[in-house]
Amino acid sequence: KETKDQLIIDAGQKHFGATMCKSCGMIYTASNPEDEMQHLQHHHRFLEGIKYTGWKKERVVAEFWDGKIVLVLPHDPSYAIRKVEDVQELVDNELGFQQVVPSCPNKTKTFLFISDEKRVVGCLIAEPIKQAFRVLSEPTGPESPNSKECHRAWQCSDVPEPAVCGISRIWVFRLKRRKRIARRLVDTLRNCFMFGCFLSTNEIAFSDPTPDGKLFATKYCNT
Ligand code: ACO
Repeated sequence: KETKDQLIIDAGQKHFGATMCKSCGMIYTASNPEDEMQHLQHHHRFLEGIKYTGWKKERVVAEFWDGKIVLVLPHDPSYAIRKVEDVQELVDNELGFQQVVPSCPNKTKTFLFISDEKRVVGCLIAEPIKQAFRVLSEPTGPESPNSKECHRAWQCSDVPEPAVCGISRIWVFRLKRRKRIARRLVDTLRNCFMFGCFLSTNEIAFSDPTPDGKLFATKYCNT
């Protein structure tokens, strides 16, 4: 059977096969010059993008033993907006999102999880919505483990349900996952999205979730 898998020769190289960079988290083939070049380019851009130098006026909305959550609003100073744009570009790159235009750019709320190492290691972007459609079941379409599109084609109910807040992006730095950063971002969002009330999980919706996003949302919302 013909296979299109990339083959690598084990010629006793120091690093062989897939390697994960311990700083930027990129998985690449260390013995492949093209891959190494791509890693170098990504490494610098990524670490620069998530670097957080601290702002004079920052809106800290939650503090933890391993970091804090900062909220950025649309009319904040340009340095804060620029950081959000830089982080969003990295996130969208990883998620394979094309430029998604928020429906209410003036009402978008961005929550950044800042680690003690002064890095943006989590990001949640939310906007007001009026309704959402519940994901019903497993992906539709033919089974194909290589097709990303197939994995994203969740079947949704066609009955709209009232909702208040849409999460258009949630992302955690690969090397910081499964440390409850996403959970703390959503808890904080529920607390801060509408003044004076804590949103229930029925009032929030995740837009077009990835497989990771769906696993997280299912666990978080107990659905
Ligand atoms: N597989 C299975 N269960 C998971 C996963 C996973 N990949 N991620 C989270 N969970 C569940 C677990 O039950 C977990 O608790 P446990 O670790 O005690 O078992 C619980 O959710 C809470 O997880 P967190 O630690 O809070 O989640 P994390 O900080 O790792 O972030 C996220 C989850 C944001 C989905 C992360 O994996 C990520 O950034 N993935 C890549 C980007 C992405 O796909 N984002 C979602 C896009 S969809 C959207 O933006 C609307």
